[in-house]
Parts: sequence; structure tokens; C-alpha cells
Amino acid sequence: MKHILVAVVLLIQTGILQAGGTIKNGGVFYDTRGEVINAHGAGFIKVGNYYYWIGENRKNGVFVSCYRSTDLVNWEFRGDLLTRESHPELQNANIERPKVVYNDKTGKFVMWMHFEFRRDYSAARAAVAWSDDIEKPFTYVKSFRPFENMSRDCTLFKDTDGKAYFLSAARENYDLALYELTDDYLDTREHITTLWPGGHREAPTLLKHGKYYFLFTSGCTGWNPNQMKYAYAESIRGPWSELKNIGDETTFRTQPTYIVTVQGSEKTSYLYLGDRWDPKNYFNSTYIFLPLKFSDAVTPVFEWQEEVTIDAKKGIIH
Ligand code: DGJ
Repeated sequence: MKHILVAVVLLIQTGILQAGGTIKNGGVFYDTRGEVINAHGAGFIKVGNYYYWIGENRKNGVFVSCYRSTDLVNWEFRGDLLTRESHPELQNANIERPKVVYNDKTGKFVMWMHFEFRRDYSAARAAVAWSDDIEKPFTYVKSFRPFENMSRDCTLFKDTDGKAYFLSAARENYDLALYELTDDYLDTREHITTLWPGGHREAPTLLKHGKYYFLFTSGCTGWNPNQMKYAYAESIRGPWSELKNIGDETTFRTQPTYIVTVQGSEKTSYLYLGDRWDPKNYFNSTYIFLPLKFSDAVTPVFEWQEEVTIDAKKGIIH
């Protein structure tokens, strides 16, 4: 009996047996070992058959952990990508909101993140690391302020033409600065624009739907949730629309971290991941997955659901 169970789990993990699955929102998320998933402020990337969930860990000197799944429901722990021991500069650091993209030219996975010294948020730097293998420890490159700008909450976006962009909260979180990356994705090449100066936005995440780019962000209220807003543009360089409210006034008690594009055999759907932070105890923070739908080319729809059913193969989320 035990052997049959193990075989079924292996078939599910390798994607051979895949019936889709249901996520229950509001509780703790466990990996396939039965351990609590520690991957906050996360980013996602699809490599082969696997979706990777890469996020903040903060336990036992680990900064960034990596989980993978074929169905976006069952997550297998694959290892720690960045720890206090990865580089001398990280000995005294805090890392938030890691995001990873793949560079087709160099064959490297490149991670961008928010760097601080422990709980002091005044360094306000971006940091960069890379790896040849998404599941293996990353090589830390550096932390810096892009074009001398402060850089806190951030996201990374790779476009269909291979160009990659970094977007981060600048000027004490008053502005959002958009940068194009160099060809190797290891540095910023250009400060393209500053979005909504004085708008006080953070927790940005970008996606492309049809011919439009969408940017979702939260307001700035520390660890407490607030109203998510979105804007869209035909070119990532702008002009961007005004910011509009979406979801309820606390974003269903979450702060955005990433929206996964799920390209299936039948359709392309979008899966929102928000952090449900515990302001009193970071380690009690959990996650909420919700479908993000579109009612027309420029109107995303975002509603609360207790349960989310995902068929990643077909690209159907409801
Ligand atoms: C909200 C940010 O979005 C988080 O990533 C984190 O930086 C907290 N603020 C810190 O207060």
C-alpha cells in the first residue's frame, strides 16, 4: 500500500499523473514533505514542466528558498538559493522580494531582490545574483542603488522580445522607478521613467495580457494590507494609464507579490499570489492565491474565493 502511495506521489510530482487540484485559501501552506512553505514576497518562473515558487525564507540564515510544482497546487521543496553564507556582504543583510528571470543569451537564471542591513531599511538597495541551474545556489554579484536611486519593493519582468525590466520603489517609496536591464540582465542600462511621482506605491508586479502591459501595486502601509491598484500601457515605456482600484480596500487582506501567467493547451489564465503578512510575527505570514481575470482587453477582475481550482495543463483557473 505504502509503495503504491509513494508511486502516485512521484507520478504527480513528475507531472505524469496530473488531474489539476484545488487550493484552499486562508490556511497554512505545506510542501510535499508536510513542512510549512517559507517563500514570502515571492516570484515565479516556469522552466520545462515546472513552475518554480522562489521567495523569502528568513529562517536559519536562509534568505531565498525554492519550491517547484507541475500543477501549482502541490509544491516540492528543492533547496535554498541564497543564504547568509553565499557572500560576505550577506552576513549582515536582509533580503526581500526575490524575483528570477532566465537569460536566453547567457543561459543564466538571474535574480533581483531588495537588499537591506538587517531591520534597518535605510540602505534601500537592489541586489543581483545568478545561477546556471534554477535549483542550485545562486552566485551573489552585488547590491547597489540603480542610477543612485533608493530601491526597495521591486519586481522583474522579461518581455517577449527578450528585454528585461526592473521596477522598484524609489525616493523613500514616493516614486516607482522603471529600469531596462543590460543584455546579461546583471545591471541596469537605463532609467526609463519614474511612474506616479509622489504616488507612494510598493509591492509592484507586471504582466502582459494581449497587447497591453499591466502593473499592479499596493499602497505603502508597512505590513498592513491596503487597496491594490492597477494601470495599463501599450508600451512598457509608457504612457501609463491612471491608477485604478481593484479588489476590495485591503486586497482581501493581502499585499501583491506576483501574478503567474499560466499558459495551457486551452487558454492562458492568471494566478495572483498575495502575502497575507502577520505584522506581529513575520513567520506566521501566509499566502493567498486568487484568479485574476479580464472582462475586456484593459479591465482586470479580481474577486475573493475561498477555493481556487487549477488545471495548469489546460490553463484553466476558477
Ligand atoms: C511592505 C513591503 O511590501 C514588504 O516587502 C516589506 O518591505 C514591509 N513593507 C516592511 O515594512
